[in-house]
Amino acid sequence: MKIDTSLTIPQPPEALSQAGLQFDEATEEDFDEIMAMSQDIYGGLDYLPTRYTSWLQETNRTVIVARKEGKVIALESVCVIDDGETMLVEGLRVAPEERGKGVAGVLLRFCSELVKSKFPEVKVTRLTRDDPLGPKDFQKYRVITKQGILLVRFKAEELKLRLSNLISHEGIFSSLSSPSAVRLDHKSIHQLYLTTDLMHGVLPNATVIQDWQPFKLLPSNFAILLKKNIDWMVDDESNPTVASLCTFPFKVPIGDDWYYLNIDMFGKDLSLVQQQLLCHLQCHMATLKGHVMCQIFLDQALWKPMADFCHNALNLELVKEYTEQCVVESDV
Ligand SMILES: CC(C)(COP(=O)(O)OP(=O)(O)OC[C@H]1O[C@@H](n2cnc3c(N)ncnc32)[C@H](O)[C@@H]1OP(=O)(O)O)[C@@H](O)C(=O)NCCC(=O)NCCS
Repeated sequence: MKIDTSLTIPQPPEALSQAGLQFDEATEEDFDEIMAMSQDIYGGLDYLPTRYTSWLQETNRTVIVARKEGKVIALESVCVIDDGETMLVEGLRVAPEERGKGVAGVLLRFCSELVKSKFPEVKVTRLTRDDPLGPKDFQKYRVITKQGILLVRFKAEELKLRLSNLISHEGIFSSLSSPSAVRLDHKSIHQLYLTTDLMHGVLPNATVIQDWQPFKLLPSNFAILLKKNIDWMVDDESNPTVASLCTFPFKVPIGDDWYYLNIDMFGKDLSLVQQQLLCHLQCHMATLKGHVMCQIFLDQALWKPMADFCHNALNLELVKEYTEQCVVESDV
């Protein structure tokens, strides 16, 4: 659908005509062009190919493409969460040959105005970044919370062997079958996260970050979260110290048989974090195949001991040194 920019953009029209950009709401037909300009993104670990179609169906989401001379050169998506108060910016990307010309800035401002006109109750814009933030970013944004990112890689078959050896011979993971990591069903998630404040001491800034999306503890957000295929775990429902959320493995474009597994972990107890990681891996062992990139988001202080644990105990390959996931926010 073409957007009538004269009605929807309160920003100066010169900015757009200078950039020679046209904005459209993204459609299924744009998929190939979007993928073509996304080739180099996140080192081949782009989540967009698996999410694109469902993004277009979400009623609280707007996906916009920018075209130059008819060709798609940029994309941004905005999802309205937190009872309609937050616009969450996701998927931002500009074609390599168009970077450094201010396209992202124009697109960010366009989407912000468009979403504000559709959802007038929006108060803040949030985004999650993993690139180093500079002084200009800190002028623009306040930091809501940060998590360390541990990226490891393994072959599913090798990890299966390793885990079964560890469980049967080394016995050090007897905790896998102990009740110190509990999988939560929808009712218990609702009960624990929304009817008590027990999770406030566990979550960073009372925020559930699920695969890059930061959510406040609100029923409307849990309606979104509980539609997703996620495994929720906690060490103790009545007195939680560590909680975690794990996606199901999804394909990434880096290679034919490559999958991504994202695990968000909250809490500072190393041993409990290790146990939950093992339980999540164990839960997915039956379905995991091929090569797996596993992204573990965790308390910054746990990055090093968890990197050592993954490498030494599980023989997982460390893909990247320490990086950070940073949730930032600004008023609109
Ligand atoms: C990051 C990227 C979108 C920037 O595009 P660009 O057109 O070259 O951006 P510019 O350098 O012209 O910066 C323009 C604006 O984008 C903002 N920006 C840059 N990187 C950003 C990021 N990662 N997230 C949000 N905004 C970003 C800048 O702050 C600047 O804002 P301003 O105009 O208000 O000052 C582009 O380099 C890209 O596609 N990279 C690969 C994908 C990627 O890393 N996406 C970020 C996901 S968090």
